Amino acid sequence: MCRAMQKGLDILVTAAEIQKRIEEMAGKIAEDYKNRPLVVVGVLKGSFIFMADLVRQISMPLTCDFLRVASYEHDHPTGVVRMEFDMTQPVTGKDVLLVEDIVDTGNTLRALLNHMELKKPATLKVCSLLYKEVGSGVREKIDYLGFTVPPRYVIGYGLDSEGLYRSLPYVAAFK
Ligand code: IMP
Ligand code: MG
Repeated sequence: MCRAMQKGLDILVTAAEIQKRIEEMAGKIAEDYKNRPLVVVGVLKGSFIFMADLVRQISMPLTCDFLRVASYEHDHPTGVVRMEFDMTQPVTGKDVLLVEDIVDTGNTLRALLNHMELKKPATLKVCSLLYKEVGSGVREKIDYLGFTVPPRYVIGYGLDSEGLYRSLPYVAAFK
């Protein structure tokens, strides 16, 4: 029995599938921006592993920044999106790619897009590793999407449950 099964997990996306998809997404991003300098902005904490793998596959000049929002408590959305810290470099007139781990209800993404628009970037696009199929009507706001997952609470590859499981190399759900 593999370790994930011992832990009572269903693996939804394997480590190999994630890496293959990241290569495809990074290739498309490099092609779309055609060497225009890009600011890649990761939404902490969930996106840190995805972003680290993604930027290393994007073969063009880019800078990285981060911001942190919190919208979940005890694995459930609070309905309030709290900005815990903001990015450090100005992005006015720049091409910005926002990197998220997962879009569920879309509340966080909507709040982030409003927040980023105020900074007047030249362009603003969204890259998310996962999209949870809930019919929240924000799928069209994701320009680069890794995988669609069923409406279950998922962990691994940066995503946590009460702070744990971020370091798993795959995306899984509890049985
Ligand atoms: P939304 O605002 O409902 O779209 O949720 C977005 C944020 O909540 C994501 O950036 C995650 O940090 C967190 N989140 C949503 N669903 C999950 C999940 O299934 N596992 C872990 N974190 C999640
Ligand atoms: Mg997040």
